[in-house]
Amino acid sequence: MPTFAIGATDFLLDGAPFRVLSGALHYFRVHPEHWADRIHKAKLMGLNTIETYVPWNEHSPSRGEFLTTPQLDLARFLDLVHEAGMHAIVRPGPYICAEWTDGGLPAWLTADQSMTLRTNDPTYVAAVSEYLEDVYAIVRPRQIQHGGPVILVQIENEYGAYASDKDYLRALTALTRAAGIDVPLTTVDQPNDDMLENGSLDELHKTGSFGSRASERLATLRRHQPTGPLMCSEFWCGWFDAWGAPHRVAPDSARELDELLAAGASVNIYMFHGGTNFGFTNGADDKGTYRPTITSYDYDAPLAEDGTPTEKYWQFREVLAKYAPVPDEAPAERTDAPVFEVALNRGIPLWQAGLIAEGSFAHLPTSSEFAAARGFSSYSTEIEHGGLLAFAEVRDRAQVFLNGSPVGTLSRDHHERVVPLPADARGTLTVLVENLGGVNYGPRIGEPKGLIGPATLNGRPLTRWSAGAVLLDDAEAIREALGSAVATVDAADAADAAPGPLCGPALASGRFELAAPVDLHLDTSGWGKGVVWVNGFNLGRYWSRGPLATLYVPGPVLHAGSNEIIVFETIGAERAAARFVARPVLGSSEP
Ligand code: GLA
Repeated sequence: MPTFAIGATDFLLDGAPFRVLSGALHYFRVHPEHWADRIHKAKLMGLNTIETYVPWNEHSPSRGEFLTTPQLDLARFLDLVHEAGMHAIVRPGPYICAEWTDGGLPAWLTADQSMTLRTNDPTYVAAVSEYLEDVYAIVRPRQIQHGGPVILVQIENEYGAYASDKDYLRALTALTRAAGIDVPLTTVDQPNDDMLENGSLDELHKTGSFGSRASERLATLRRHQPTGPLMCSEFWCGWFDAWGAPHRVAPDSARELDELLAAGASVNIYMFHGGTNFGFTNGADDKGTYRPTITSYDYDAPLAEDGTPTEKYWQFREVLAKYAPVPDEAPAERTDAPVFEVALNRGIPLWQAGLIAEGSFAHLPTSSEFAAARGFSSYSTEIEHGGLLAFAEVRDRAQVFLNGSPVGTLSRDHHERVVPLPADARGTLTVLVENLGGVNYGPRIGEPKGLIGPATLNGRPLTRWSAGAVLLDDAEAIREALGSAVATVDAADAADAAPGPLCGPALASGRFELAAPVDLHLDTSGWGKGVVWVNGFNLGRYWSRGPLATLYVPGPVLHAGSNEIIVFETIGAERAAARFVARPVLGSSEP
């Protein structure tokens, strides 16, 4: 059987020096029917390894559960890597960061105030061990010495940027070894003395995360990892985008990659192919200001979100060819996607859709209290007079309605938390709150969402609330709401009529025909803010703030024949129509 080890200066594959040329590809961000294609294209660029994180919160929405649905079939993903003749690196966290909601930590875990996350707290480590056992049951037989693709497994993630509990790292290492993981174990940290010191153990191989100034960064890493191969486990070749900010690009990354490889280092390109934050899976940053990550995780990576090669792909291929053989075969360039428009000719205001599951509370609950871990929730209370409505905090965006009419919006990223109500206000106050994504870095990971109390009206507490989740997880329920209710939104009623406006918050749907399933790009410009499903598959959020102006529709979710689109628009769209365009629009970047 093959072997993989760490030698005095190099990784050793079957005893011979081996340079890891890896690319990050998160199976949970790519439609499963596209996995083989993306892996193959990594090989064609000149890579020999695929790296993935494992998102605990996706696999375990409740404790004790470990989902292996087609989207989460890690075993199949690793088998496809193997079939492609490539190696694999697995990074199971338990914390993964990754611009993934809550950095991958499950909501049921973070809701338990009795444990201290990412430390050697026995309650926390017990939960982690259940999860790691499930992951390692998949990884163990797929290690290289058992005839599989896995050559490296990472412990935690940039732990030195968070804390310095070595007993925790020891506990994770012991759990990993006890589960039969015998391949070399690594850690990754930013190339900073404190982080490298705090984030690892002597028995773990230290690697770095950076996207530039390779020689200097490798020298820092060398001080902390005096022997063995140097590796950049996250070579950042692009970056993620936040709503309302310019699209980020890294045009110089081929030169930076060349510098890294010229220094003899091994690499994992983060990301080779970023994919998409489908559904409500995106994370957020908060270093004083909350900044949610957009739906596209294109990352300015060599392989674009829709799986087509970019200019960077060809540049990287050329650089890699200087250091290792690159296959002759080359992937096809992007072709234009079909361009057409669909009338959203059936619509219903959210308040009439019967999708809100409210319970009664004698205080203002967070959405974690009614188990609305993701997406939207609704709050309502009765008021007798107007004045200043205030919350301690809004997580993360609140639209306020009085007797069904909009009176204001509060945005966490603008630090807004008060809204004036008309003096004669009286009746039902309703607040639609969106969880825009769990913070994935730093101390706010896993914080409760929804409205944070106390809520006051003119300084007096508002304590009687009805509150609950907006049920958007089940596309069938949304379809039923749209099918059974009278269409009350002013939408197009005939094929040749100009589509009318769609006034949010409302759900609307339409149907379209395709000759064959192909990738599409949904143009969301002209829409306000919301979520889209195609044939029940949640494409993710759109927002007029940009920079993103299209949503990627993976071909495998479409059918030859009739297809359905459902839009949940929270603000409003001038035309109740969905336009599909030829190419993605990621938005403009800063000059
Ligand atoms: C760090 C984390 C990754 C990711 C990148 C930024 O390196 O380890 O998970 O968040 O930053 O994309």
